[in-house]
Amino acid sequence: MAHYSQLVMPDHINTVGTLFGGQMVSWMDIAAAKTVFRFLKGSKAWGAVTRAIDKVEFKEPVYAGEWVNFVGEVIATGTTSITVKVDAHVEGNDETSMRLACSATITMVAVIKDKKGNFIKFKHGKQVD
Ligand SMILES: CC(C)(COP(=O)(O)OP(=O)(O)OC[C@H]1O[C@@H](n2cnc3c(N)ncnc32)[C@H](O)[C@@H]1OP(=O)(O)O)[C@@H](O)C(=O)NCCC(=O)NCCS
Repeated sequence: MAHYSQLVMPDHINTVGTLFGGQMVSWMDIAAAKTVFRFLKGSKAWGAVTRAIDKVEFKEPVYAGEWVNFVGEVIATGTTSITVKVDAHVEGNDETSMRLACSATITMVAVIKDKKGNFIKFKHGKQVD
């Protein structure tokens, strides 16, 4: 599991005054990357790349000045793939407010560099508990 947070700044806002969806997806991808980075420790993978972003749901609008707190958890593994569920919880000024704004399922593939320097998929040998 990994955590990651972002403050929503004015330049993240779309024309209707809420967080731009593409920005949210970018942050979700980073949260998944951090989750997989941690998961692959101890393996010989060079890193991992995003293969698929599925089931993206924007459940609640997000506004400038709010914090977005991401939680990533590995939910499945294959031979080279790692699938991560990412939830984005938004924290506003209200002491009790914490709302689920976005969720997605992101599949990443472990990679190594071949002799030409190209990234190729790699059997990570890891399993989720
Ligand atoms: C990732 C990459 C190296 C894998 O190449 P490949 O040799 O063609 O391998 P595939 O993508 O067919 O399969 C790799 C794994 O992804 C899985 N996969 C393929 N398509 C998928 C999809 N749509 N959803 C979920 N998983 C998928 C396969 O089942 C396989 O998993 P497994 O080994 O655990 O069984 C190549 O697809 C690539 O470079 N993609 C671009 C990555 C990128 O630029 N990402 C954005 C920047 S990080």
